Amino acid sequence: MKKITIAIDGFSSCGKSTMAKMLAKEVGYIYVDTGAMYRAVTLFAMRNGMIAPNGEVNRDELKQKMQTLRVEFKLNEQTGRAETYLNGENVENEIRGMEVSSHVSAIAAIDFVRTALVEQQQRMGRDKGIVMDGRDIGTVVFPDAELKVFVTASAEIRAQRRFDELKGKGVEANFDEILNNVQQRDYIDSHREVSPLRKADDAIELDNGELTIAQQLQWLVERFEERV
Ligand code: C5P
Repeated sequence: MKKITIAIDGFSSCGKSTMAKMLAKEVGYIYVDTGAMYRAVTLFAMRNGMIAPNGEVNRDELKQKMQTLRVEFKLNEQTGRAETYLNGENVENEIRGMEVSSHVSAIAAIDFVRTALVEQQQRMGRDKGIVMDGRDIGTVVFPDAELKVFVTASAEIRAQRRFDELKGKGVEANFDEILNNVQQRDYIDSHREVSPLRKADDAIELDNGELTIAQQLQWLVERFEERV
C-alpha cells in the first residue's frame, strides 16, 4: 500500500492532536505534534529570561541561541506515547502548562523560529507515512500532502475540553482564563504575518464540536482509505 502524508491543522484545543494520534495508531503511521515543538522553544526562551514580564521577546538573543537548541520526541515505553525533549530533558508536562500557553503564540510568530522548526518537520516527513498536526502543515510544511484536514469547533467547546483535560491531570484550572487564552491564541495565530493559520484551499473542513472520538476516527479512516 502506498504511503501518504496527512496534515491536520486547526485552531487551539480543537482536538487535532487526539485525532492525529488516533489516526496514526490506526494506520501505523508516525505522529508528530508540531505545537509541542513551538512550546519547547517557548519554554527555552522563558527559562533563559528572554521573555520580559510584558511578554516582549528578546529576539536577538533567541536567534543566537536557536542553534544550541534541540527539540526531539522519544517514545515512552510504558505509555506507548511520544514525549517532548528539550536538549535531552523530558519537558512533556511543563510545556502543557498555562505559562507556556500564554507565550507560545508570540514565539511561534517569529520568522526564524518557524524556519528552523519547519525545516526539521519537513525532514521528519521525508519518507511519508506521517500524520502531522499544527497550524501550517497543509499550507507551508507539506503543501503537497495527500490528505489535509482543517478542524474547527466553537471556542467554548474547545475551552471546555482543555479545562477537562487539565482537571483530569489534576492541574488547577480556571475556565474563563482558558477561554481567554484560546481566543487570544486564535487571534494571534490567524493574524500573524508569517504563515498565519488558514485553511488550505484543498483541505477538508471538519467541525468536530458534536462528534464523539469514535465518529472522528471513523471519518478520518474513511478519508484515508479514499487516498491509499
Ligand atoms: O497545538 P498547540 O496548541 O499545542 O500549539 C501551541 C501554539 O504553537 C499555537 O497556539 C500556535 O501559536 C503555535 N503553532 C504554530 N504552528 C504549528 C503548531 C503550533 O504556530 N504548526
